[in-house]
Amino acid sequence: TILILDFGSQYSHLITRRCRELKVYAELMPCTQKIKDLNFKPKGVVLSGSPYSVYDSDAPHVDPAVFELGVPVLGICYGLQEMAWNMGGAVSKCDHREYGFAQLQVVKFEGEAQSSGSIVDALFEGLGDEMQVWMSHGDQLSSLPSDFHVIGRTQTAPFAAVTHNSKPFYGIQFHAEVTHSKRGKEVIGRFVLNICQCQPHWTMEEFIGKEISRIREICGLKGRVIGAVSGGVDSTVAAKLMHEAIGDRFHAIMVDNGVLRLNEAAQVHKMLSEDLGVKLTVVDASEEFLGKLKDVEDPEQKRKIIGNTFIHVFEREATRIEKEAEEEELKGAEKKGRVEWLLQGTLYPDVIESISFKGPSATIKTHHNVGGLLKDMKLKLIEPLRELFKDEVRALGRLLGIPAHLVQRHPFPGPGLAIRILGPVTLEQVQILQKADDIYISEIRKAGLYDEISQAFAVLLPVKAVGVMGDKRTYEQVIALRAVQSEDFMTADWYCFPTDVLRRISSRITNEVAGVNRITYDISSKPPATVEWL
Ligand code: XMP
Repeated sequence: TILILDFGSQYSHLITRRCRELKVYAELMPCTQKIKDLNFKPKGVVLSGSPYSVYDSDAPHVDPAVFELGVPVLGICYGLQEMAWNMGGAVSKCDHREYGFAQLQVVKFEGEAQSSGSIVDALFEGLGDEMQVWMSHGDQLSSLPSDFHVIGRTQTAPFAAVTHNSKPFYGIQFHAEVTHSKRGKEVIGRFVLNICQCQPHWTMEEFIGKEISRIREICGLKGRVIGAVSGGVDSTVAAKLMHEAIGDRFHAIMVDNGVLRLNEAAQVHKMLSEDLGVKLTVVDASEEFLGKLKDVEDPEQKRKIIGNTFIHVFEREATRIEKEAEEEELKGAEKKGRVEWLLQGTLYPDVIESISFKGPSATIKTHHNVGGLLKDMKLKLIEPLRELFKDEVRALGRLLGIPAHLVQRHPFPGPGLAIRILGPVTLEQVQILQKADDIYISEIRKAGLYDEISQAFAVLLPVKAVGVMGDKRTYEQVIALRAVQSEDFMTADWYCFPTDVLRRISSRITNEVAGVNRITYDISSKPPATVEWL
């Protein structure tokens, strides 16, 4: 394992990504992590960048024990400054803040420490004399600590890459973890594979085997696990993994909240239960949800109602499952024990967010999740995907035999169509939106554009517009189409469709969906807009 200490840079998680792409397991922890409290011995440590300056009074600092661990350390940007600062170097503001591309000149070391030359040149070994790198910094090293020397410089940064004369400590001012640094991944590869000597063993095949054993160990021989599934990638993959580990002791529950996409509950049932063999109950609670959503327009109110009703329905169902199981066991069925665990499809980015030393970021929208379930149900939490990034979950899904169209599916929010119907949510409004959305998505798929788009959906506006159909004046609703491209949904760009695709979608929706006579296309990026309209 490579330990990555996060000082709050927006790129910290990318260091983790790059290591894992090299098939080396890496874990991100807040920079405040005390080395004596680690429950594993890392084979190397990376210190990330940071928005702070090392000399700020509130700047975060690393536990100096990191340099006593006896393993290689790589400092990136702030990480380099922090390492040098710790060892007596000086850091100061640059004359010009540097942001963007720079040309790094590799400097061969010809000093006294030649005997340890193998580690001295190891970081850039075989990467040539020059490379294009990405810089983003306002501070830089202005003098080297005594036992260090330069291994790379740029026009403005004389100490753009440095190393200790005899210990495996390295610092780079540029961001090797971003793809703009052309050979950045190779630099990280030199560090984790050659210098730290990690074996490239981290693969999804390996993960499945280990995780299944871990789940079996945690869950023991008795006791049931329940988990909510939505038809999304994460809950489906988590459910299939649980099924592989403990079979029918895992019971999936899908709550049909009445604001799902067209035929969604039936499709999930077919895929999870019939194709993947997972034990599943689909609860049709649509009337209950729609009843509670009646006349509600405020988006946060909609989210709250759906979140709370979901918890209520899920708990009721879990109790019913438990009772039914008890009765069956009384009649002589195999004893599988009580419901003890709750499965959640938490992913690594959520874990990172919650462990960030700056605390979770500001809430723009209260995203609905099932966290509230634990409070009342006295269940223990099991999160088999908590080490994985989204694309790793997708790879895992493919290996577990989940169909490709599902693995690549766009995200769908917990509160579903309720936050895409801008006015009050009624059965009639849901049906209009379901049909329009279904046409939109199927035309995108037909045009072969689905995988290029990160998320696409239709929105139903609570306004009526005048139109004309067959010589008659109409007065009907407006559908807005949204499609965005995004890396992480923190920022997003609107997607530029070929016009013929838009033309087909528009004509099909206005022809096939009663109650809609006008289509608009949303050309706002995030920020200032958000992906969803509510
Ligand atoms: P926004 O609208 O915040 O969306 O730019 C970013 C991503 O989050 C999804 N989203 C939600 N997901 N519950 C969810 O589970 C919610 O309440 C929620 N609101 C937004 C949105 O679909 C997009 O992928």
